[in-house]
Amino acid sequence: MIVTTKELFEIAYGKFAIGAYNINNLEQCMGLFQGCLDSQAPFIIQISKGARSYTHKAMLEYLIRASEEVFPEAIFAVHLDHGDEETCYDCIESGFYSSVMIDASHEDFDNNIAATHRVVEAAHAKGISVEAELGQLGGVEEHVSVDEADAKLTDPAQAKEFIERSGCDCLACAIGTSHGAFKFSGTQGLHFDVLEEIQRQVPGFPLVMHGSSSVPQEEVARINAAGGELAGAKGVDAEQFKRASELGVTKINIDTDGRLVWTRVHREFFKEQPEQFDLRKPGTIFMGEYAKFIAAKNEYLGSAGTLSMVRETLAK
Ligand code: G3H
Ligand code: 13P
Ligand code: ZN
Repeated sequence: MIVTTKELFEIAYGKFAIGAYNINNLEQCMGLFQGCLDSQAPFIIQISKGARSYTHKAMLEYLIRASEEVFPEAIFAVHLDHGDEETCYDCIESGFYSSVMIDASHEDFDNNIAATHRVVEAAHAKGISVEAELGQLGGVEEHVSVDEADAKLTDPAQAKEFIERSGCDCLACAIGTSHGAFKFSGTQGLHFDVLEEIQRQVPGFPLVMHGSSSVPQEEVARINAAGGELAGAKGVDAEQFKRASELGVTKINIDTDGRLVWTRVHREFFKEQPEQFDLRKPGTIFMGEYAKFIAAKNEYLGSAGTLSMVRETLAK
């Protein structure tokens, strides 16, 4: 069942975080639904601009519609990840998305507010909610690349004004994470002091943590042992999700970890069986491994085991 992102946030705020997982293809879609049902968790499917153009934007939409039939118990929202204005309007028009993210965080404060406000007006007219970003994460996104030196933590003093003037429904905050597999070069970590102050400024307002992959070291070691070159890859300690959710982080974005599962499965499969060329064999292994990965992640997020409570609350 597709629900609104807002409904999920109202249920989860302060108690647990909803996993927001990116998908690009059938195998990720199957593994994601299976893993969320195995762990009895609601979830958010994220589609990036790059994912929409990987094949055709309609492909992922119909894949998700089909998944709804194949997994009728699933409760989830569909979200545009890191949209520019044009992509946001396209998704709003489509009537399929529960929420969109306008990422104008590379603009200055006033222009970020102005772009977010335009998207909010269009989205709210159709009952769709809007995520905006204040501050800048490091790392690489599809349309923006941010050097670590240019990454800026969210200024808590600006959060309230930004939310009031833009009208956004949730806020992605930069609190020390970055996108991709190389998050922390030294001893850096999450800035809970910044997060605490943001929550103090905007109590009850749902916050979003991007760049939250854990980059499991065992996964990295297996990839490297099978021919990969990911030395030094490092991520966020998933044990910290609970504290973040108590401080208002209601949506936690995870993409890179899923790519690592895919890479490990395929590298190991073809290394061990170089005579193979049937794509369904590693594809089947990947779907099972991805489902296991998702179920484990939902335990850390606290969303595992909440599905029947979420269903009952939505029915009231
Ligand atoms: O934050 C970016 C997400 O990991 C999506 O990546 O734009 O390459 O699909 P992508
Ligand atoms: P990761 O690169 O840590 O998986 O972050 C994903 C993300 O923030 C998607 O918006
Ligand atoms: Zn992101």
